[in-house]
Amino acid sequence: MSTVFFGPSGRLRGEVGAPPDKSISHRAALLGAMSVEPVRISNYLRAADTIATLNALRAVGAVVEEHADRVVVCGTGLRDAREPGGPIDVGNAGTLMRLLPGWLAAQEGRIFVLDGDSSIRTRPVDRIVAPLALMGAQIEAREDRFPPFVVYGSQLRAITYELPVASAQVKSCVLLAGLGAEGTTSVVEPVASRDHTERMLAGAGVSVRRDGLTVSVTGTGGLAAQSLAVPGDLSSAAFMIAAGVLVKGSRLRVRDVGVNWTRTGFLRILERMGAVATGALEEPTAVVATGEPVSDIDVTAGHLQGTTVQADEVPLAIDELPLVALLGCFAEGETIVRGAQELRVKESDRIAGVVEGLRGLGAAIEATADGFAVTGCGALRGGVIDACGDHRMAMLGAVAGLASDEGVEVVGMESAAVSYPGFVDDLARLA
Ligand code: S3P
Repeated sequence: MSTVFFGPSGRLRGEVGAPPDKSISHRAALLGAMSVEPVRISNYLRAADTIATLNALRAVGAVVEEHADRVVVCGTGLRDAREPGGPIDVGNAGTLMRLLPGWLAAQEGRIFVLDGDSSIRTRPVDRIVAPLALMGAQIEAREDRFPPFVVYGSQLRAITYELPVASAQVKSCVLLAGLGAEGTTSVVEPVASRDHTERMLAGAGVSVRRDGLTVSVTGTGGLAAQSLAVPGDLSSAAFMIAAGVLVKGSRLRVRDVGVNWTRTGFLRILERMGAVATGALEEPTAVVATGEPVSDIDVTAGHLQGTTVQADEVPLAIDELPLVALLGCFAEGETIVRGAQELRVKESDRIAGVVEGLRGLGAAIEATADGFAVTGCGALRGGVIDACGDHRMAMLGAVAGLASDEGVEVVGMESAAVSYPGFVDDLARLA
């Protein structure tokens, strides 16, 4: 395990490119595997999670070529995934674990076992088991809830499913299963969540309809995706953005960030807190071949006010909420996050991790059942934080260190490689 010290930093200056988007990379590779024609993906994320996806797809029969500037996936088609010789290893990747079964459930007569690391074995899959069972698939999970689990591919029927939790992963799983079912499958969301799957499916010729919070797909014979481009990941860029906001005198630019509205909740929260991060909330500068808008984001350090994040904002900023807690430590007044109980079932319990972690650095922060409340005092002392194997907790600790009085030692910094292998180098370049 690597322990890295991040000392208080002088102003951050310069430009950095955002690493490729993790959510979109998973989906692009999956769509490639579900297609018959080869699908070329540019700017694919080469990080632990998305490499696990390429290997999982190879295990079910896709041929994946990795080149320096692109990944080419030669798929099996919608209904011809191969039964692998052993369990499919999803590693630490929750998105892979929840999306892949949507496709596999439609592979009639074939059996797939999915398993992953010790963190993944604590993450619930009953949320995908329930809708897939309604569609006619049979799934057996450990304690009916956790990996490892077995998917028995079946003939699927279309359903209308009301999501009990706002989850883009569960929505995507049901939509992917809907492609292999006869008729129209609809998912009703309690509040909007990221819509990358819908955009990409529409681009691949699938009939996708959105009506308010209901999204529907019609079963199809095949997909027509050919060339996909992955934008920069706002969830990774958010660490650079937060560092730029918190370290006095900073001015920096993060290039080519995906600014799909369903992902930019963090920027709207920042704006409300009084931070200046321009670019993303205006017109995007380009739209890449996955139907995703892209923009550069300029950040300037500033004075922060506390804010309250309500439940309907949570899915639009879910992976950035730990950073909202950190920003809250430096803000004037209270910063409260509500309706974010989902944080308890991420790569780690991110309510407990954020509260214990930041408290150890000197923050005044309390956990609530569905979030946290921080009383800002304009500074953070520093200390030691354990990433607990969670990539976003490791990067949170690093940013806290740069903005702190005494620096932060991050235990388990190597976890950042799950989504952002070049994180420490990028941060060093800006400093
Ligand atoms: C993701 C959706 C979110 C997010 C995760 C990636 C996705 O999870 O936390 O990091 O790619 O769909 P939920 O949809 O389960 O909230």
